[in-house]
Amino acid sequence: MNDEKLLKIIEKYADEEGALLNILLETQKKYNYLPREVLSKISSERNIPLSRLYSVATFFKNFSLTPRGKHTIHVCMGTACQIWGGKKLVDKVGEDLNIKPGETTEDLNFTLETINCPGTCGLAPVVMIDSEIHAKVSRNKISSLIKKYKK
Ligand code: FES
Repeated sequence: MNDEKLLKIIEKYADEEGALLNILLETQKKYNYLPREVLSKISSERNIPLSRLYSVATFFKNFSLTPRGKHTIHVCMGTACQIWGGKKLVDKVGEDLNIKPGETTEDLNFTLETINCPGTCGLAPVVMIDSEIHAKVSRNKISSLIKKYKK
């Protein structure tokens, strides 16, 4: 792989302690996940064993080794949100997009994740799409939101 932007990311953190995390974070931001060939390139350029890169990439939840969607739908599965229908929202997203939690649509537009209580229980059931919180979400509302983010 000969990607100029990737090489710039690797060089940018050349002399920094803790550079590995910064390189992986910026690489993840660039590709939206950590492709195998990119990890191989980082490994060879920085002389870091590939196994160490995989170890770090799988330890932190922020990193993904599989392609992720342009938008991430986080459905809260905390107690309050479950009482108010959180599971039904997960099912509805699954029906609308044909994916399960942890999966990404084939068009790479959406990834579905479940989360546990971001601390906004008074707004239950809560859905976060990217960094935007949506309150008191119904099955109809989640379908409308998905259509809005498809644009
Ligand atoms: S349980 Fe969902 S926001 Fe607290």
